[in-house]
Amino acid sequence: MPGRQFPDGFLWGAATASYQIEGGVTEDGRTPSIWDTFSHTPGRVLNGDTGDTAADHYHRWESDLGQLRDLGLGAYRFSLAWPRIQPEGPGTVDQRGLDFYSRLVDGLLSRGIAPVVTLYHWDLPQWAEDAGGWPARETALRYEEYARLAVAALGDRVHTWTTLNEPWCSAYLGYASGVHAPGRTEPAAALAAVHHLNLAHGFGGRVVRELAPKAQLSVTLNLHVVRPASGSEKDLDAARRIDAVGNRAFLGPMLEGAYPADLLRDTASVTDWAFVRDGDEATAAVPLDVLGVNYYSTQRVTAWDGVSPRATHDGHGKSGATPWVGADDVDFLPQPGPHTAMGWNIDPGGLTELLVRIAKEYPGLPMMVTENGAAFTDTVDADGEIHDVDRVEYLRGHIEAVGAARDAGADVHGYFVWSLMDNFEWAYGFDRRFGIIRIDYDTQRRTWKDSARWYRDLVTSGKLPG
Ligand code: FCB
Repeated sequence: MPGRQFPDGFLWGAATASYQIEGGVTEDGRTPSIWDTFSHTPGRVLNGDTGDTAADHYHRWESDLGQLRDLGLGAYRFSLAWPRIQPEGPGTVDQRGLDFYSRLVDGLLSRGIAPVVTLYHWDLPQWAEDAGGWPARETALRYEEYARLAVAALGDRVHTWTTLNEPWCSAYLGYASGVHAPGRTEPAAALAAVHHLNLAHGFGGRVVRELAPKAQLSVTLNLHVVRPASGSEKDLDAARRIDAVGNRAFLGPMLEGAYPADLLRDTASVTDWAFVRDGDEATAAVPLDVLGVNYYSTQRVTAWDGVSPRATHDGHGKSGATPWVGADDVDFLPQPGPHTAMGWNIDPGGLTELLVRIAKEYPGLPMMVTENGAAFTDTVDADGEIHDVDRVEYLRGHIEAVGAARDAGADVHGYFVWSLMDNFEWAYGFDRRFGIIRIDYDTQRRTWKDSARWYRDLVTSGKLPG
């Protein structure tokens, strides 16, 4: 194979998120987020890990910028910690929080790296959860206030503003299956959370348009590639249900200004959706410059017979409750391998399929892959090297899949590897490593894995080796 050449303007980056890397959780006025509370609750996170220190990025940000530069990256996707910027609640602001991110943004710009900033990557201030969390409309209003402070401070220095990261996880893992913070298992509340996240996206999007008119506006969704186990009517309907509650619950309001009728029907026994007020869906449909797509694996579903033990496993942690609200009669089947250390099946073709689907359904909508990558059990050789062949192969396959989607007409103009470095992988703590740079959590030493060198060669040449 001759290898594939990506165009010059293609944005190559790496991604992280505040709670997963920063540490410094009590510094400069920061107060707890729901993830501090959750991770400090026994039994919630594997091995009792917390983000108290994580990758200590709060203190090492400058040398981490050096890593980004040495990798030759054109962009860096990171998130702001709301509880650093408004630690004391609504109506307050802590300048030290804004200054930290301002230094980071300037540091990126001076190294020629475009800042791609996520406003919300799951670390809701605990005070906002105490006031009701995402199931409460108030939280969307509080988010707007926070977005205004952040965008006013960083504005057009930011290349792309992303309102939310994976609202699917915030709503369903946080409030239905409870494997993520705040760990509630209330299906109706999860659907209210879906709506208030969509609304917050609309509010935040307007703030970006108003205060940073030259920046790109985006949102990142983890869209599910759901395949029916057979062509039977029941299995097709199972896939439709998961697509509704998993994908179209966000795509509908954000891109079409309306919730899909089948979603409202499927979930009618859970909620009457009375929390949706006139004008909310239009608010959520703020025009986007680019859709962020996170992709890791695919899912296979079948109609549940109501008797056999269910294989349901959402891949983010185990709990008795399902994240798939309104789809109790759907079963998720084990997927053929190979799998990553998360148990997620490796299926690059799913990424092409997803990007081409979005391109067909929303013609003219540019996209970026804002997360893609894999956890594997890395081993450090006697000479200190990490030959993560599996990760290189995963990345190669998926970047090729992005190229194939582009060939098929999808306007994908960026790719961000998850993750720049090993970090706090939510319910799995430090046990699962996604980085292309290894973190030794005893010394905080950063070591490039083979995948980091491979990625550097790719991004500096734009050429995917054959
Ligand atoms: C995504 C999250 C990200 C990371 C990866 C593995 O769901 O956005 O923070 O944990 O999964």
